[in-house]
Amino acid sequence: MHKKENLYYPSEEVKKNANINNEEVYNKGGEDPISFWEERANDIVWREKWKESFSHNPPYFSWFSGGKLNITESFLDANKESDKTAVLFLPEPEEEGEKKISYKELYKEVNRFANALKSAGVKKGDPVGIYMPMIPEAVVAMLACARIGAMHTVVFSAFSSSALRIRMQDTSAKVLITADGYYRGGRVNNLKESADEGVKETSIEKVVVANRVNNEVSLNEKDVWWSDFIKDQPDELEAQEMDSEDPMFILYTSGSTGKPKGVIHTCGGYAVQTKATAKMIFDMKEDDIFWSMADIGWITGHTYTVYAPLICGATMVLFEGVPNWPQADRWASIIDDYKVSIFYTAPTAIRMFKMQTKEVKNELSSLRILGSVGEPIDEVSWEWFFREVGKERCPVVDTWWQTETGGVLITSLPGVGPFRPTFTGRPLPGVKFDILDSEGNSVPANKEGDLVIMPPFTPGMLRGLYKNEEKYIKTYFTEHGESIFYTSDTAYKDDNGLVRIVGRADDVIKVAGHRLTTGELENAITKNESVAECAVAGIKDEIKGEVPVAFLVLKEEREKEELHEEIAEKLRKDIGPIALIKNIYIVSDIPKTRSGKMMRRVIKKLFTGEDLGDLSTLSNPESVEILKEAIKKDE
Ligand code: WT7
Repeated sequence: MHKKENLYYPSEEVKKNANINNEEVYNKGGEDPISFWEERANDIVWREKWKESFSHNPPYFSWFSGGKLNITESFLDANKESDKTAVLFLPEPEEEGEKKISYKELYKEVNRFANALKSAGVKKGDPVGIYMPMIPEAVVAMLACARIGAMHTVVFSAFSSSALRIRMQDTSAKVLITADGYYRGGRVNNLKESADEGVKETSIEKVVVANRVNNEVSLNEKDVWWSDFIKDQPDELEAQEMDSEDPMFILYTSGSTGKPKGVIHTCGGYAVQTKATAKMIFDMKEDDIFWSMADIGWITGHTYTVYAPLICGATMVLFEGVPNWPQADRWASIIDDYKVSIFYTAPTAIRMFKMQTKEVKNELSSLRILGSVGEPIDEVSWEWFFREVGKERCPVVDTWWQTETGGVLITSLPGVGPFRPTFTGRPLPGVKFDILDSEGNSVPANKEGDLVIMPPFTPGMLRGLYKNEEKYIKTYFTEHGESIFYTSDTAYKDDNGLVRIVGRADDVIKVAGHRLTTGELENAITKNESVAECAVAGIKDEIKGEVPVAFLVLKEEREKEELHEEIAEKLRKDIGPIALIKNIYIVSDIPKTRSGKMMRRVIKKLFTGEDLGDLSTLSNPESVEILKEAIKKDE
């Protein structure tokens, strides 16, 4: 890599081997995005070619409709005789050693489990819950759903039983796949216990339990061990034929209110976009060993931990544990020991690695591309990642996307560049985007505005919110009209057209890259009997990027520590340990507009010392001073 002024460019070495190394593809994608994606669509296996590439009936759109396929045929059937490693499983306990699953074995395992699901009555279009740790069975479960056309709905294994229940109630799934437990940071987690709690008051009739840690579990009537479930099932099964526009999976994410939204992705477009983006952005090739650290509970886990490496015929690293345990630099040893060639992680992890391992002693010579995702990365961490991990050799792709977009839409390509720390880069070829002011005009360079995606959008973007059409329209296709997708992010472009993400314009906060809404947290907190009113805001944190704090108006006098502990416990129970709040402030009033809306923007700025801006819409401006004092008292 070489640097010119404030921009980095790929070296000749990187360019020489890159899938894409010149501007041509940008020109093509810019001129005619539809034919750009059509060309990409020819790179996956179809049973029948699509009839219509793109159609738009605002706010709805479709890609490749009439096309018939099953995503698993592009990599399972295509490689069913191959002994190459598809899944490289690295358990947390090092003494257990790695486990390699070849494409051939994966083909059989998926078919066996898919047959079992079919025997249990699961049909095309049925939702299936997956509440599993990062173990091979989780990958098999996801792929088996895809194989029979059932919609997997993965729930992050560190989410609480209540979070699981809400999602299962919303989907009305009948089958849940889980495990007895998992290892994390030296502890054995009892996942089955949460699953038992979580399926109460849902329509779950069967719970399939993978045995991971030999936890003592009580098998209930609905429960069946994974091994019994697949017993005598044949390892052959013809994949279910799907229409390109049939739903493939649902993934819940936090929205602007307390209730999570079920984002729907469809079969054809998602497959096309996943493969195309992996080849462009990660320069993925069949001999790559790709380690995406993201848990399957998040969209990154779906698209880039699981589907992308498989659909590219590469090897996926599936890591169960914590990357800095039992040694702070375990992640670096993994890269060296298993010759990881592409490493995809998040700013929170990078900041943690940097803090714990200032100088990286490992060679890391197998690495060729680094990636970051989920939240803005600060310049110091970017430079450290580039120097200490990439040894100034590897391009760093700072990838912008969302659960809703299904895949990365903005980042500079490794063989083209340019890269500028803290800027995610250029929109991908085939992606039409803009940055708009509130009137809908494009803003000039260096001016902030709303980041939007323009038609024809992209093949892998969401097609709706499960059972919630109204919210789909309101959240994405109202702010700038029914033909423009609003991302809820604020952004600006520099003079070279590189995009910098400023942050969310809604009530979403990113805690260690994980998406939470202040509303969700407030809902849980106000359940506490002592709390009359509550406002949650995300404030800056050195490692996690953002962390939530809460301002509380109380009904009765309470001791702060004790109340904080009660609230923390409730958040753990309702959401999970990621909802840990850093601090609570007991105050007598909270700033609100005349219409009763919380002024979160103001609350946030109290911590940064920024100018508070226009306070004239507040009904109780004096409350700002109350908050200021509470913060000061606590410093
Ligand atoms: C939000 C989406 C998409 C994978 C994981 C997150 C923020 C995402 C970046 C980046 C700055 C980023 C945005 C976005 N975000 N990537 N490279 N730089 N911010 O998915 O949980 O749906 O969150 O994450 O604010 O809207 P998600």
